Amino acid sequence: MRPAAPLAALLVLAALTAAALLLVLAPARLLPVRTKYGLVFDAGSTHTALYVYRWPADKENGTGIVSQVQSCTANGSGISSYADDPAGAGASLKPCLDKAMTVIPAEQQRETPTYLGATAGMRLLREQNSTKAEQVFAEVTKAIREYPVDFRGAQILTGNEEGAFGWITVNYLLETLIKVWGGERAEYSFSGKWTHPPMEDVVGALDLGGASTQITFLPGTTSDDKNTTALLRLYGTNYSVYTHSYLCYGQKQVLKRLLASLHQDSPDPQQIAHPCYPKGYQENVTTAELYNSPCVPTPSTPSPAQVLMLQKDFPTRNKIHLRDSCAASSYVLTLLLQGYKFDDKTWLNIHFQKQVSNVDVGWTLGYMLNLTNMIPSETPQRAAVLPKSKWVAATVILAIILILIFCLITALCYWKDSSGYEML
Ligand SMILES: *[C@@H]1O[C@H](CO)[C@@H](O)[C@H](O)[C@H]1NC(C)=O
Ligand SMILES: *[C@@H]1O[C@H](CO)[C@@H](O)[C@H](O)[C@H]1NC(C)=O
Ligand SMILES: *[C@@H]1O[C@H](CO)[C@@H](O)[C@H](O)[C@H]1NC(C)=O
Ligand SMILES: *[C@@H]1O[C@H](CO)[C@@H](O)[C@H](O)[C@H]1NC(C)=O
Ligand SMILES: *[C@@H]1O[C@H](CO)[C@@H](O)[C@H](O)[C@H]1NC(C)=O
Ligand SMILES: *[C@@H]1O[C@H](CO)[C@@H](O)[C@H](O)[C@H]1NC(C)=O
Ligand SMILES: *[C@@H]1O[C@H](CO)[C@@H](O)[C@H](O)[C@H]1NC(C)=O
Repeated sequence: MRPAAPLAALLVLAALTAAALLLVLAPARLLPVRTKYGLVFDAGSTHTALYVYRWPADKENGTGIVSQVQSCTANGSGISSYADDPAGAGASLKPCLDKAMTVIPAEQQRETPTYLGATAGMRLLREQNSTKAEQVFAEVTKAIREYPVDFRGAQILTGNEEGAFGWITVNYLLETLIKVWGGERAEYSFSGKWTHPPMEDVVGALDLGGASTQITFLPGTTSDDKNTTALLRLYGTNYSVYTHSYLCYGQKQVLKRLLASLHQDSPDPQQIAHPCYPKGYQENVTTAELYNSPCVPTPSTPSPAQVLMLQKDFPTRNKIHLRDSCAASSYVLTLLLQGYKFDDKTWLNIHFQKQVSNVDVGWTLGYMLNLTNMIPSETPQRAAVLPKSKWVAATVILAIILILIFCLITALCYWKDSSGYEML
């Protein structure tokens, strides 16, 4: 009996077992990618919306793209309109939270980070009466805490934050901060290749809200003005963006001022105290421009022919809404052409977009990405994980090499047996 034969057989068997284990276990261990969820309330001046986001759990810190699972617009107006009924603000959020709980698996709700960000409507209320703003926040917090989520607080964003987060959202979705290609692109994992697109690809963001409007872009030159500069370090690159928020220049505030000046209403003491009316009703700079717009000869009373024409386009909308949307579109033109100085040529670079890759464009996604640390300030690690196909190939090659080595050892043993130490 040759002692080398069973030994070699054992070794080959061990090699095969190890290879099989690698083949079976390794990809299986990589496969079940858990999904994480995040909730962000956009408490705007005209309404509140709740966004439910989802991302693969193993792709934290910017190694996976976030998708939007659900958006829900709360009934009623923005939380700032509940200044005299704070409990109503809390109650207004519940239907949307109920809806979100139906899409987030029960076992994951407790670990779902939840944020509420309020914008210009609450900024204005805080300026008017900070006690009232605090009461609204207390009620909103109470309402959200009734749900089994990881509530991380309600906050009033500054205008600059609102602008910067909107800019991050747009550029993140357009892949102009970091571009992923090759690899398993559907998962947007960084297992493939990624590049920093050139700075020229980065786009600016314009945002027209109800009470404020924001403009954010990468300027050609750097400015020292701290008030309008936001320094962002994303994926290992520093961006010094210009951002400016114009409070009171959101479309609702502009229309209110416009109507007030047209109707020459008797000034109401509350309105005078409003931060958007520093000079009472005398502020009519935008009025003259709206008058000249072809859409609305007199914003409060469009001509019958115009109403007829517009009602054909939007038969379900009422006249008040028509008048407002017409005046609003005139205002958008005025803001872009006269305010921000776009011209016939640069106009072509403006893209009016509500969504990119099925995700709503707004500040909420950028806000959540920042607060969950999902956009790393350093460049991500390359190729931490092999795709499944490469695992299989690598394992097969490894197994073949192992078998070859053992075959060689076995052959050597036999050769030694037959040449030197042959036993009889
Ligand atoms: C993400 O980054 C934070 C700190 O920036 C770190 O604590 C955390 O472990 C990172 N998560 C992953 C999955 O790398
Ligand atoms: C809004 O109100 C309508 C009618 O009352 C109701 O059918 C709908 O479910 C409500 N939606 C939300 C999000 O509360
Ligand atoms: C602010 O609101 C609180 C609570 O409603 C009220 O008591 C207070 O008088 C208000 N302050 C001002 C300056 O209007
Ligand atoms: C920055 O803002 C402060 C306070 O709002 C103001 O006093 C200051 O003049 C601003 N600086 C510049 C350079 O605009
Ligand atoms: C980016 O900014 C950080 C501070 O936020 C600074 O330490 C770093 O040197 C800057 N990097 C470059 C390339 O400018
Ligand atoms: C404001 O409107 C009045 C007429 O109502 C007009 O005489 C005045 O010039 C306007 N002011 C501005 C700054 O447009
Ligand atoms: C992002 O969040 C960090 C805190 O986690 C904060 O220091 C930073 O200023 C935020 N970024 C922006 C653009 O606000």
